Amino acid sequence: MAKVFAIANQKGGVGKTTTCINLAASLVATKRRVLLIDLDPQGNATMGSGVDKQALEHSIYDVLIGECSLVDAMQFSEHGGYQLLPANRDLTAAEVALLEMKMKESRLRYALAPIRENYDYILIDCPPSLSMLTVNALVAADGVIIPMQCEYYALEGLSDLVNTIQRIGKLLNPTLKIEGLLRTMYDPRISLTNDVSAQLKEHFGDQLYQTVIPRNVRLAEAPSFGMPALVYDKQSRGAIAYLALAGELVRRQRANAATVTA
Ligand SMILES: Nc1ncnc2c1ncn2[C@@H]1O[C@H](COP(=O)(O)OP(=O)(O)OP(=O)(O)O)[C@@H](O)[C@H]1O
Ligand SMILES: [Mg+2]
Repeated sequence: MAKVFAIANQKGGVGKTTTCINLAASLVATKRRVLLIDLDPQGNATMGSGVDKQALEHSIYDVLIGECSLVDAMQFSEHGGYQLLPANRDLTAAEVALLEMKMKESRLRYALAPIRENYDYILIDCPPSLSMLTVNALVAADGVIIPMQCEYYALEGLSDLVNTIQRIGKLLNPTLKIEGLLRTMYDPRISLTNDVSAQLKEHFGDQLYQTVIPRNVRLAEAPSFGMPALVYDKQSRGAIAYLALAGELVRRQRANAATVTA
């Protein structure tokens, strides 16, 4: 049964999409079956997976409003090796369309239910907002992965996100948890990076991934070729860091499973 992770942070440009694409490809490299869901009208995860967002017959929007089945909207990312539920600007209409629907917060959760057993991991790329789309992701997820840059304002926005996660947990998804905080575009030469890192460690303890993602130009270049860094330049520091993250994530999963059965 797949673990479903929402990659969320309402702050823009922190590395959500980069994390989705490269973590998905790295999990595939470790022989996991992966589905990536683009839940952002910007369609960046779609393009970065090598699928043309302008040429979609069906998208996640159609799935959310019940116009087509999830399987009919699914595409394969050739370079990434994972399945993709693509998105484009059509998804901006979802916000309003969902308002009129029953169980509007749970549409994605129900759409995923019949296919969860076909995957090991389902990753959801959230938009940079705490909108109804993000709420759908949080209701569908087992855990939230929060990518963040180690800057001063990063911590400020984090408390809003943590409050939202707690509220959704209380009202709609009692097993939801913060799976991990991921430091992206990491540069240890900047002293603020170390200060923020220390604060994160203090507040979040083991929830902070040990793996950090360095600032690496290959990670920024790869999406324009529709590739993960692992295919674009597998020796790059970015590609290696995301492989390490996949390893850490899988090990955590195993450790959690062991505590549950013990
Ligand atoms: N580790 C990194 N090193 C260098 N560039 C990066 C790194 N991570 C992300 N980038 C670049 O930073 C920009 C923002 O990253 P990304 O699109 O992943 O963020 P996002 O959180 O998904 O943004 P949005 O909130 O708009 O969806 C992109 O141009 C991306 O290529
Ligand atoms: Mg994005």
